[in-house]
Formats: sequence, C-alpha cells, structure tokens
Amino acid sequence: MTGLRHQRPLVVLIFLVAVAALAGAVWRYGYLQALEQLARRAEGDLALASDRLSTELQVYQELAVLLTDHPMLDGLDDPARRDEAQAHLLAVADKTAALDVAYADLTGRILVSANGLTAGDVSDAAYFRRALQGALGSDHGLRAPLDRRAYYYAAPSFDAAGQVRGAVVVVADVASIELAWPGNAPAVFFTDANGEVFITNRFELLFWTRPASGVGLVPPDGPAPEFRAAQTGGHEIWNIRWGPYVPTRALHLQRHLPIVGLTGEILVNAAPARRLAGLQASAVAAICLAFGAMLFLATERRRTLAQANAVLESRVAKRTRALSEANAQLRQEISERKEAEAALKRAQADLVQAGKLGALGQMSAGISHELNQPLMAIRSFAENGTQYLARGRSDKVGDNLTRIADLAHRMGRIIRNLRAFARQESEEVRQVDIVAILDSAIELTGARMRQDAVTVAFARPDRPIWVRGGDVRLGQVFVNLLTNAADAMQGRDDKRIEIALNGDGPLRVIIRDNGPGIDVPDKVFEPFYSTKEVGASEGMGLGLSISYGIVQSFGGDIRGENGPQGGAVFTVQLEPWQAEQAA
Ligand SMILES: Nc1ncnc2c1ncn2[C@@H]1O[C@H](COP(=O)(O)OP(=O)(O)OP(=O)(O)O)[C@@H](O)[C@H]1O
Ligand SMILES: [Mg+2]
Repeated sequence: MTGLRHQRPLVVLIFLVAVAALAGAVWRYGYLQALEQLARRAEGDLALASDRLSTELQVYQELAVLLTDHPMLDGLDDPARRDEAQAHLLAVADKTAALDVAYADLTGRILVSANGLTAGDVSDAAYFRRALQGALGSDHGLRAPLDRRAYYYAAPSFDAAGQVRGAVVVVADVASIELAWPGNAPAVFFTDANGEVFITNRFELLFWTRPASGVGLVPPDGPAPEFRAAQTGGHEIWNIRWGPYVPTRALHLQRHLPIVGLTGEILVNAAPARRLAGLQASAVAAICLAFGAMLFLATERRRTLAQANAVLESRVAKRTRALSEANAQLRQEISERKEAEAALKRAQADLVQAGKLGALGQMSAGISHELNQPLMAIRSFAENGTQYLARGRSDKVGDNLTRIADLAHRMGRIIRNLRAFARQESEEVRQVDIVAILDSAIELTGARMRQDAVTVAFARPDRPIWVRGGDVRLGQVFVNLLTNAADAMQGRDDKRIEIALNGDGPLRVIIRDNGPGIDVPDKVFEPFYSTKEVGASEGMGLGLSISYGIVQSFGGDIRGENGPQGGAVFTVQLEPWQAEQAA
C-alpha cells in the first residue's frame, strides 16, 4: 500500500506519456488520412488546371496550322497583297486574343504581321527552325521586342510542290490566359524544363525556381523565400513563406504535360488536415484523460476504503486481543475462585469436625459417667447374682442376668452413637430419618441432661420421616441446639426442653426451652459469638455458625428467636425427601 502511494506520481507520469504517445499516433494517422483526401482533391484540381491550359494553348496551335493553307499567303511580294494579308491576320488576332500572328519566309524574315510585335527576323528561333523542317514548332519565353511572357507556335506552309515555303507564327499571351482562371483556386503553377515557374495563378511564384534545398533562388523582385520540402507518408509537404496567398505549409503535387512541354504543379494548404488531425488527437487525449481521471479517482477511493478497513481491522484485532486477555484473566480468576471455594469447603469440613470434637470433649465427662454407671450396675448385679447362685435362687440369678444384658445393650447403643457422631461424613446429601437422628441426639446428650435435671420432651411420631441431609451432620446440629438450651437454663429450677416436628411441605423441627432467651438474636449465628464464660463449659461461639452452614448445605434453614412466653425457640427447616430424588 505504502509502496503504491510512493509510486503514484510515476504511474501518473507513465499514464500521461502513454496518452501523449497515443494522441501522437492518432494525430499522425488522422493527418495522413486527411492528406490522402487532400491529395485526391488536389490531383483533380491540377488535372483540371492542366487540361484548361493545354486546351487554351491548343487553340493557338491549331490556328497556326489552319492559316498555313490560307490563300492570303500567296503572292505576298505584292505590297497590296501584303496589306490585305496584314488586315486579315489582324482580324484573326483580334478574334483569338493572340498577341500576334505573322508569316515568315524561308529566310526567317517576317513578311506580314498582324500587330508587328514579332521581331523582324525569326531565323534564330528554335520553333521557326523546327517548322522549316516540316514539323510544328513551339516555344515559350520572354523575348524582344515583346518582353512579355508568350507562347510561340510555328506551323510550316507548303508550296504547290510540297516544299516548305515559310511558316505561320502565332504568339499567345500567357498573362491573358492566366487572367481567365478562377481566382479562388489553389495555387497552381507550371514550370519549364529548367524548373522555372512560367505560368501561374499566383503572381508571387512567377520565375521562381525550386532550389535543391534551403533558400530558393532570388526572384526578380523581393527577397528569397525560405523553402523546405519533406516527405510525409508518401506525400511531399512544402514549407514556404511566400505571403498570404500561398499556403505556408502545403501539399505539393505535380504532373508532366508533354503536349505543352511544361510540368503542372499545385500547392494545397495542409493546415485543415493538421487541424482535423489535431482535433481527433485532442478528442482521444481528452477521452483518455477523462477515463484516466475517473480510474484514478476510483483507485483513490478504493485505496481510502482499504485504508479505513485496515484501521478498522487492526482496531477489531486489538479489541479481540484485549477481550481474549480479559477472558483469560477471567478464567484464571474463576479457577482461583474455585480453588478458594474448595479450600473453603475443606476448611468448613475441618471446622465441622473440629466443632464435633469440641462437643465430644464437652460431653466426655457426662458420657464417661453414663458408661460408668451401667458398668457399676453390671458389677453389682453380677456380684448379687453370684450370691443368689450360692443360695440356689436361680430365679433371681436369671433376673440379674437379664438386667445385665439390658445394661450392656444400653452401653453398646451409647458407644455406637458416639462413634456415629465422631464419624466424618463423606456423602453430600442422602435420605435420612429425622426421628432417628433426634433420638440419637437426645441419647448422646442424655447424660448431661440427667446431670442437670433437664426434662427433654420429644413429641415423637411413630413412623420415620425422611428428609434430605446427612445423619452425622444433622445429629451435630441437634446436639448443639440441645446443649445450648441446657447451657442457657443452668441455674434455673424447672429446666425443660420441648422438641416438636411439624409442617406439611418443608419439615420443621422446633426446639424450645424455658431459659432466659437469646440476648441478641441477630448475632447468634455469627462465628465466635458466645456469651459463655471462658472456663469449664466455655463456648467457642462456633456451634450455631457451623449448624447454619450444615443446614444451608442441605437446602434448609435455621432460625433462632425468643418465644412469646420467654425462652429461646430454634427452628430447623429441612427439605422432605421426594421419592423421585431417590431414583
Ligand atoms: N437456647 C439458648 N438460649 C439463650 N441463648 C442461646 C441459646 N442458644 C444459643 N444462645 C446464645 O448464642 C450463643 C452462641 O451459641 P453457639 O452454640 O454458637 O456458641 P456456644 O454455645 O457459645 O459455643 P460452642 O457451641 O462453640 O461451644 C451462645 O453463647 C448464647 O449466648
Ligand atoms: Mg453451642
């Protein structure tokens, strides 16, 4: 693109040169065509002028021939006959506009002459000598005593014996012939054997001789005209400065006229041919330039468009790059976010476990008491049994053994619950029985409740109620709720916790106590919010926030508020397990 822009002046220059060359070629072709037409017309004009001259001169030639037999030429020794003959010849000369008509005898002496303009003796004249030989003599020139351009004819006159006795001489006036020619015809001139212009319709050309080259011969009056001849496409073009009546640049044609012994030549103005060719060349050049200008404009326009396009494309590419960068960054952020989420989940799981272990720690004293008590009972039942066995009271022994079995069974249940509570749950969400979960939570906290004389009233339905969740984590939630309630009621006389289940759609577990109620209900789910003193039953302030996270992860909800008759009311809402979810 840039290269092209730099080359533009060169391209324009080449185009202009090409247009100039084409215009030149068209000019030359048009010029030659026009010259061809001009030459054809000029040939016609020259032929016409030559024929006219020949015909006019032929009149005088025939006149000379006709007069040779005339009877007036007989007996011219007689002066009276001579006068008669002179009158006759004068009449003939007047009628034919001849300069002179005369008769010469064998010696060349003029015996009789119409106007007396012929020299007294023509014996030296070539035309006369030719006539003496019995042929028709002719000549032209400026001769004394005439001193006018004249054309001479001499016809032999024969005597009765057939011998030449003399010659009739007819002198024709060239100027009068020229005068009869039309004035507006192209410049025509007739040159003799020497190349000198003898007859012409342009006075300026008279007696001019065409030079070999360069400056012409000096005409009798006036400076030498500049003359150059050149060939153009088979035509001869003359460059000649000869005043307003002779074209400066002219097409030159010539034609030999043997009858009159002259060469007819014509000069036709070549300027119209040049003008026509110029017009054609300018038209072609104008069309080419207009076309070129249009092409140039179109190219410029296309170039501008292409430039705009390139700018646009580069912008789009830049934007796309920026977008892909942003996209990559976003992906990076997403993956970081995912990593953080996974880390958070791990942390949460760790926290759940930690909270669970914390609760276990708190419960450990009660649990060991809970296990110790049946162990002590088993021991005393066993000792009693031994004594009954010694006494032979087998019925009492059986009784004791049954009790021992019950106690062992109870201990096993406590241990199983503990193990289940401490377990780390791997499965996210599954079908669990909320009634069984509440049973085990009550059992786990049983020792503590008994120790603090807390009554736990559970309106237990007889059938399982299936919800979405995990039994270990939900157990952790309820253990914390029950423990919190027991903590809150410490130091009170009547300690009571009520557990109820209700709800048709989502299931709600409501745990209510008759403690002092929650200090700041909005803050209880915040991590590390605790009103419990640091000490034996110290709180981390994590139990409820962990419970919140657990319930939320099952798609449920947990709320804490104060009841209308005092005491705290915690509601855990859970999604019921739908049959199709199991599929
Ligand atoms: N039943 C309730 N009655 C009154 N206040 C309660 C009750 N349950 C919880 N609270 C208040 O909410 C706070 C937060 O309880 P949470 O279970 O989160 O922490 P904690 O019991 O103090 O410590 P942790 O459970 O970590 O051992 C408690 O310190 C208490 O002030
Ligand atoms: Mg707690």
